[in-house]
Amino acid sequence: MAKDKNWWKNKIAYQIYPRSFCDANGDGTGDLLGIVSKLDYLHDLGIDIVWLCPVYRSPMDDGGYDIADYYDIDPIFGKKEDMDLLIKEADKRGIKILMDLVLNHCSDEHPWFKKALADSDSEEASYFWFRESHGCPPNNWRSMFGGSAWENVGGDRWYLHLFSKKQPDLNWENPKLRQKLYDMINYWLDKGLGGFRIDAITHIKKEPTLSSLPPDDPDGMVGCFAPTRNYPGIGDLLTELRQNTFDKYTCMTVAEAAGVPYADLGIYIGEDGYFDTLFDFTYSELYNWGHGWHTCKKPWEWPIKNLRDKMFASQIETAKVGFGAVYFENHDYPRACAKFLPDEYVNGTSQKMLGTLFFFLRGIPFIYQGQELGMTNPTFDSIDEVNDISTKNHYRIALADGLTPEQAIKAVNRYSRDNARVPFPWNSGKNGGFTTGKPWLKVHNDYKKFNAEDEAKDIDSVLSYYKKMIKLRKSAEYNLTLTYGDVEPILLEHEDVIAYIRGGEKRIAVICSFCPDTKDVKLPFGGFDTLLSNLDDTVSDNGTLTLRPFECKVLLIKG
Ligand code: NOJ
Repeated sequence: MAKDKNWWKNKIAYQIYPRSFCDANGDGTGDLLGIVSKLDYLHDLGIDIVWLCPVYRSPMDDGGYDIADYYDIDPIFGKKEDMDLLIKEADKRGIKILMDLVLNHCSDEHPWFKKALADSDSEEASYFWFRESHGCPPNNWRSMFGGSAWENVGGDRWYLHLFSKKQPDLNWENPKLRQKLYDMINYWLDKGLGGFRIDAITHIKKEPTLSSLPPDDPDGMVGCFAPTRNYPGIGDLLTELRQNTFDKYTCMTVAEAAGVPYADLGIYIGEDGYFDTLFDFTYSELYNWGHGWHTCKKPWEWPIKNLRDKMFASQIETAKVGFGAVYFENHDYPRACAKFLPDEYVNGTSQKMLGTLFFFLRGIPFIYQGQELGMTNPTFDSIDEVNDISTKNHYRIALADGLTPEQAIKAVNRYSRDNARVPFPWNSGKNGGFTTGKPWLKVHNDYKKFNAEDEAKDIDSVLSYYKKMIKLRKSAEYNLTLTYGDVEPILLEHEDVIAYIRGGEKRIAVICSFCPDTKDVKLPFGGFDTLLSNLDDTVSDNGTLTLRPFECKVLLIKG
């Protein structure tokens, strides 16, 4: 039977951070059986595809992105059979599971690395980037999580790690290593997996001489993007990867492919691209970390026009060559409302507006767990409440810059990845119904305000609104237009409004106001019917639409 390469395009995807979704065995950590027990919730919401953050055996230095055994499930998440059960039970409900595929690095506790350390002449030593250097790291590259990208293992021997020191980079120049990775990928695909989200994949090719570069900071180091991200020659590796694995299956691949220039998008996700789709980070990373999170501007101090321009550029460039994956939240970001809305205006109405803005874009929408409840950032009062390695690093940098512990935690709170990693609130009971044990990370301070059970009963809740959005996008009448229709930006004269028309078989306008006051906009079309809105009634007169604070509209254009 011919493979349907497009099966995923009109679907709705949902990202699960397994540690924090649902704990079935009461040990305080979410697990696979917990996810199985919530499949009906996902099905009822209208989800077709689930991306699971890593559940492989791992010491959890970086939340599972440090894999010690690619073939095994970490005991905190359950057993291998639980994974088989999840795939089977999800299938019964028409849901496909994507696993996270971490190919740029593994854990320093992986047997390959242990053998490499024990014997520098072993085959495994050539799976990594070991170099000799006397008294200082072999070059001045800075790791993504701060500090040198090199770790000394005794004497003059060092290894490269672009992320934490417990995540040694794999040497993709080695064909034997590549074959081992392909075998592992096929092992999982043979189980009937829907596909993969592919981690940090644009970093697998390194500048071969590993030379130092001019420093970009008084620390004397330089960010490792130029010599390790989309480095020339990466295409050969990605083509070989695809041909040996994904091409043989009807699976879906979504790449975490930061830094792909728009000119190269076609090579990545065009007709014969390396992947089916990718996440474009240009419109979600509107702020520049600079030296540390504590020196960062508040995100919304950037004009909303900045978000609009980047989002539309992404939409237009992606549509030229392929089909994107759209999102506003994931496990690496604080909640979207903390990025795009001033604190005093975060409420159910503005959360629904933000949801509407991203959800009707062209591309497969990925909802991050809790987004559908309108979850906000929690408050971490002390660094002891934080687990995330990058937050701890930024906290250290803030202290080194002279901030007090109280100031430092406040300063890094806004950007902490743990903001989105606190347990999912299922109900208003103890620990939000997430666990009967002691939660591995604190539960959100406001779980009584937003939790799945209460929101399901409330027709005005953010959850009920997400259900309506999903229903609309999947409806027989509008699915074609909302999936494949072009995106035409409109109302560009208003800097605090983001609006577009999805054009195709039908024409549907999506209008989102970021204005805290009422404002009038002149519509560039005539009659319409309101398909969805975050506020009752549509106030319009003679072609002018009156938008109340943070109002959004999805309008079917007539004629
Ligand atoms: C991207 C993942 O999303 C993030 O959580 C992780 O820390 C890095 N890649 C390293 O694997």
